[in-house]
Amino acid sequence: MAETIVNGQDCKGTTVCVTGASGFMASWLVKRLLQKGYTVHATVRDPENEAKVRHLLDISGAAERLKLFRAELSEDGSYDAAVAGCHGVFHVATPIDFEPKDPENDVIKPAINGTLNVLKSCTKSKTVKRVVVTSSAATVSINESAEQNQYIDESCWTDVDFLQTKKPPTWSYPVSKTLAEQAALQYGKEQGLDVVTIIPVLVVGPSITPSVPSSVQLALSFLTGNPHTLQAIKGMQLVSGSVSLVHVDDVCSAHIFLMENPSAEGRHICCPINTSVPQLAKYLSKRYPQYNVPTQFEDVPQTAKVNISSKKLVESGFSFKFGIDEIYDDAVEYFKTKGLLN
Ligand SMILES: NC(=O)c1ccc[n+]([C@@H]2O[C@H](COP(=O)([O-])OP(=O)(O)OC[C@H]3O[C@@H](n4cnc5c(N)ncnc54)[C@H](OP(=O)(O)O)[C@@H]3O)[C@@H](O)[C@H]2O)c1
Repeated sequence: MAETIVNGQDCKGTTVCVTGASGFMASWLVKRLLQKGYTVHATVRDPENEAKVRHLLDISGAAERLKLFRAELSEDGSYDAAVAGCHGVFHVATPIDFEPKDPENDVIKPAINGTLNVLKSCTKSKTVKRVVVTSSAATVSINESAEQNQYIDESCWTDVDFLQTKKPPTWSYPVSKTLAEQAALQYGKEQGLDVVTIIPVLVVGPSITPSVPSSVQLALSFLTGNPHTLQAIKGMQLVSGSVSLVHVDDVCSAHIFLMENPSAEGRHICCPINTSVPQLAKYLSKRYPQYNVPTQFEDVPQTAKVNISSKKLVESGFSFKFGIDEIYDDAVEYFKTKGLLN
């Protein structure tokens, strides 16, 4: 059996780094890691910005085992200090701007170069045994030539040429994630660094961040009736072929599973649920009759075109704890606490 990457049984004394720690997924990951006993080096762009870091400092165990570091994806060597002495690194940060003025320089280049920047710091550290890079289903599912019921596994890649030529809405984000994941895997191979990628679908659930995550707003647009996000989730199905969902807690558990599982290698899709806008709307209107969920959608296919599969992750021993009922019940409760649903 390969060497254990980090000590998953007793994490005391094991230090890991989380990049982009103030964000939705990363802050939940920090919470889970502290709960497990890890010491966490969390990178943020501005540790002095109380509004952006208070939710991290308030996590139980933070006073003893959380240390904040300033780091910026576009600055060479910026991650050296945070990664030094760490056993594992979760690279979660990415530039997120769905309507950038300059897609190449605002999103695509910083995602690729930022990822390489983090990986170079890992090599320099000489202590990092594995890096788990957070990719996205946007790197596997966008392909014009996909057939009905197309099975999507880790051998699939999004068609970057199609995106760069046709420029559908938000095209630069999937391009940035695809090229950054490819660069990470290639760097790992060439430099002998153990790089594993995780490929989550739309992440939904509660959040400890001060602002409400855009992915949760997207998933709840059926209940809030927000026309802008409703349009966006339809666009997601039209471009990607499905609406696929995962609970934030499951996606964080899968990150930790991939860090702790010695035999993990390469890409891992993290997707328990594939559906479509019309099917999801019908389900939500039955489950939450108190909200006025629209159920007539003529402008998107009734069923998902693709089936994004987590077979590899599940066969390596990971189990999802949250189904569609829990994903939405938790997100609805969260929206109520934020005053966004009654
Ligand atoms: N949410 C989803 O549905 C979903 C699905 C699949 C994959 N993902 C992936 O999961 C990861 C986290 O997504 P999220 O939804 O949690 O997003 P998020 O809340 O916007 O978090 C992104 C993080 O990246 C940081 N960041 C952005 N630009 C940076 C830069 N130039 N230098 C350093 N840090 C920078 C942000 O810092 P600030 O707080 O300072 O802005 C933030 O902490 C991303 O890699 C994303 O592609 C998300």
